[in-house]
Amino acid sequence: MKIAIGADHGGYELKNQLRDALTAAGHQVRDFGANSTDSSDYPDYAAPVAHAVADGQAERGILICGSGVGMAISANKVRGVRAAVGMTQELVALTRKHNDINVLTLGGRFTDPATAQTLVKTFLETGFEGGRHERRVEKISALESEL
Ligand code: RB5
Repeated sequence: MKIAIGADHGGYELKNQLRDALTAAGHQVRDFGANSTDSSDYPDYAAPVAHAVADGQAERGILICGSGVGMAISANKVRGVRAAVGMTQELVALTRKHNDINVLTLGGRFTDPATAQTLVKTFLETGFEGGRHERRVEKISALESEL
Protein backbone atom coordinates (compact mmCIF):
# COMPACT_ATOMS: atom_id res chain seq x y z
CA MET A 1 0.00 0.00 0.00
CA LYS A 2 1.15 3.60 -0.65
CA ILE A 3 1.40 5.33 2.70
CA ALA A 4 2.33 8.93 3.53
CA ILE A 5 3.80 9.50 6.99
CA GLY A 6 4.82 12.56 8.96
CA ALA A 7 5.51 13.76 12.48
CA ASP A 8 6.65 16.73 14.50
CA HIS A 9 9.32 16.43 17.20
CA GLY A 10 6.78 14.75 19.52
CA GLY A 11 6.36 11.89 17.09
CA TYR A 12 9.73 11.80 15.36
CA GLU A 13 11.07 8.60 16.92
CA LEU A 14 7.82 6.69 16.56
CA LYS A 15 7.42 7.90 12.98
CA ASN A 16 10.82 6.52 12.03
CA GLN A 17 10.09 3.20 13.71
CA LEU A 18 6.74 2.87 11.94
CA ARG A 19 8.21 3.96 8.60
CA ASP A 20 10.92 1.31 8.83
CA ALA A 21 8.51 -1.43 9.94
CA LEU A 22 6.01 -0.60 7.19
CA THR A 23 8.75 -0.50 4.57
CA ALA A 24 10.08 -3.86 5.77
CA ALA A 25 6.53 -5.23 5.48
CA GLY A 26 6.50 -4.26 1.78
CA HIS A 27 4.56 -0.99 1.85
CA GLN A 28 5.62 2.04 -0.22
CA VAL A 29 6.16 4.67 2.45
CA ARG A 30 6.82 8.34 1.71
CA ASP A 31 8.26 10.17 4.70
CA PHE A 32 7.35 13.86 4.81
CA GLY A 33 9.52 14.56 7.89
CA ALA A 34 10.31 15.84 10.43
CA ASN A 35 13.93 14.88 9.99
CA SER A 36 15.12 15.59 13.52
CA THR A 37 13.89 16.03 17.07
CA ASP A 38 14.26 19.82 16.79
CA SER A 39 11.09 21.62 17.81
CA SER A 40 8.73 21.99 14.83
CA ASP A 41 5.11 22.81 14.04
CA TYR A 42 2.75 19.87 13.44
CA PRO A 43 0.61 21.58 10.72
CA ASP A 44 3.75 21.75 8.56
CA TYR A 45 3.73 17.93 8.36
CA ALA A 46 -0.01 17.37 8.53
CA ALA A 47 -0.50 19.47 5.39
CA PRO A 48 1.67 17.52 2.91
CA VAL A 49 0.55 14.13 4.24
CA ALA A 50 -3.12 15.12 4.12
CA HIS A 51 -2.73 16.51 0.59
CA ALA A 52 -0.93 13.35 -0.55
CA VAL A 53 -3.94 11.32 0.63
CA ALA A 54 -6.54 13.74 -0.71
CA ASP A 55 -4.78 13.88 -4.11
CA GLY A 56 -4.53 10.08 -4.34
CA GLN A 57 -0.73 9.95 -4.22
CA ALA A 58 -1.09 7.89 -1.05
CA GLU A 59 -3.91 5.54 -0.09
CA ARG A 60 -3.49 6.22 3.62
CA GLY A 61 -1.72 8.70 5.86
CA ILE A 62 -0.16 8.38 9.30
CA LEU A 63 0.64 11.46 11.39
CA ILE A 64 2.24 11.60 14.80
CA CYS A 65 2.62 14.48 17.21
CA GLY A 66 2.84 14.50 20.99
CA SER A 67 -0.86 13.83 21.57
CA GLY A 68 -2.12 13.05 18.06
CA VAL A 69 -4.72 15.79 18.46
CA GLY A 70 -2.99 18.65 16.66
CA MET A 71 -2.30 16.40 13.70
CA ALA A 72 -5.93 15.26 13.55
CA ILE A 73 -7.28 18.82 13.72
CA SER A 74 -4.86 19.95 11.01
CA ALA A 75 -5.37 17.02 8.64
CA ASN A 76 -9.15 17.35 8.88
CA LYS A 77 -8.92 20.83 7.38
CA VAL A 78 -7.95 19.28 4.05
CA ARG A 79 -10.87 18.42 1.78
CA GLY A 80 -11.31 14.66 1.41
CA VAL A 81 -9.40 13.76 4.56
CA ARG A 82 -11.00 11.97 7.49
CA ALA A 83 -8.49 11.74 10.31
CA ALA A 84 -8.87 10.39 13.83
CA VAL A 85 -6.58 9.82 16.79
CA GLY A 86 -5.85 6.13 17.33
CA MET A 87 -6.56 5.46 21.00
CA THR A 88 -7.21 1.71 21.19
CA GLN A 89 -7.31 -1.10 18.66
CA GLU A 90 -11.10 -1.34 18.98
CA LEU A 91 -11.53 2.38 18.35
CA VAL A 92 -9.19 2.33 15.35
CA ALA A 93 -11.20 -0.58 13.90
CA LEU A 94 -14.43 1.39 14.44
CA THR A 95 -13.03 4.52 12.78
CA ARG A 96 -12.30 2.42 9.71
CA LYS A 97 -15.58 0.45 9.72
CA HIS A 98 -17.89 3.39 10.44
CA ASN A 99 -16.01 6.59 9.53
CA ASP A 100 -13.77 5.36 6.69
CA ILE A 101 -10.82 7.31 8.06
CA ASN A 102 -7.95 7.69 5.63
CA VAL A 103 -5.49 9.29 8.03
CA LEU A 104 -4.56 7.81 11.41
CA THR A 105 -2.95 10.09 13.96
CA LEU A 106 -1.06 8.90 17.01
CA GLY A 107 0.21 10.47 20.21
CA GLY A 108 3.92 9.83 20.23
CA ARG A 109 4.11 10.62 23.94
CA PHE A 110 1.32 8.22 24.82
CA THR A 111 1.82 5.28 22.47
CA ASP A 112 4.56 2.67 22.84
CA PRO A 113 6.03 1.25 19.60
CA ALA A 114 4.39 -2.17 19.90
CA THR A 115 0.94 -0.65 20.48
CA ALA A 116 1.52 1.79 17.61
CA GLN A 117 2.30 -1.09 15.26
CA THR A 118 -0.91 -2.87 16.30
CA LEU A 119 -2.96 0.30 15.80
CA VAL A 120 -1.42 0.90 12.36
CA LYS A 121 -1.96 -2.71 11.29
CA THR A 122 -5.63 -2.42 12.30
CA PHE A 123 -5.90 0.89 10.43
CA LEU A 124 -4.48 -0.61 7.25
CA GLU A 125 -6.31 -3.94 7.33
CA THR A 126 -9.82 -2.99 8.47
CA GLY A 127 -12.37 -2.26 5.74
CA PHE A 128 -15.16 0.30 5.61
CA GLU A 129 -18.55 -1.30 6.27
CA GLY A 130 -20.50 1.00 3.95
CA GLY A 131 -24.29 0.66 4.17
CA ARG A 132 -25.77 3.20 6.57
CA HIS A 133 -22.25 4.49 7.27
CA GLU A 134 -21.84 5.45 3.61
CA ARG A 135 -24.67 7.96 3.91
CA ARG A 136 -23.11 9.46 7.02
CA VAL A 137 -19.68 9.77 5.46
CA GLU A 138 -21.30 11.44 2.45
CA LYS A 139 -22.83 13.96 4.86
CA ILE A 140 -19.38 14.64 6.26
CA SER A 141 -18.14 15.30 2.73
CA ALA A 142 -21.09 17.67 2.15
CA LEU A 143 -19.87 19.76 5.09
CA GLU A 144 -16.66 20.44 3.17
CA SER A 145 -18.54 22.80 0.87
CA GLU A 146 -18.92 25.06 3.93
CA LEU A 147 -15.16 25.30 4.49
C1 RB5 B 1 4.28 19.83 20.76
O1 RB5 B 1 4.84 20.13 22.00
C2 RB5 B 1 2.86 19.34 20.92
O2 RB5 B 1 2.03 20.39 21.24
C3 RB5 B 1 2.41 18.65 19.65
O3 RB5 B 1 3.27 17.60 19.37
C4 RB5 B 1 1.02 18.04 19.69
O4 RB5 B 1 0.86 17.23 20.81
C5 RB5 B 1 -0.10 18.96 19.49
O5 RB5 B 1 -1.27 18.54 19.39
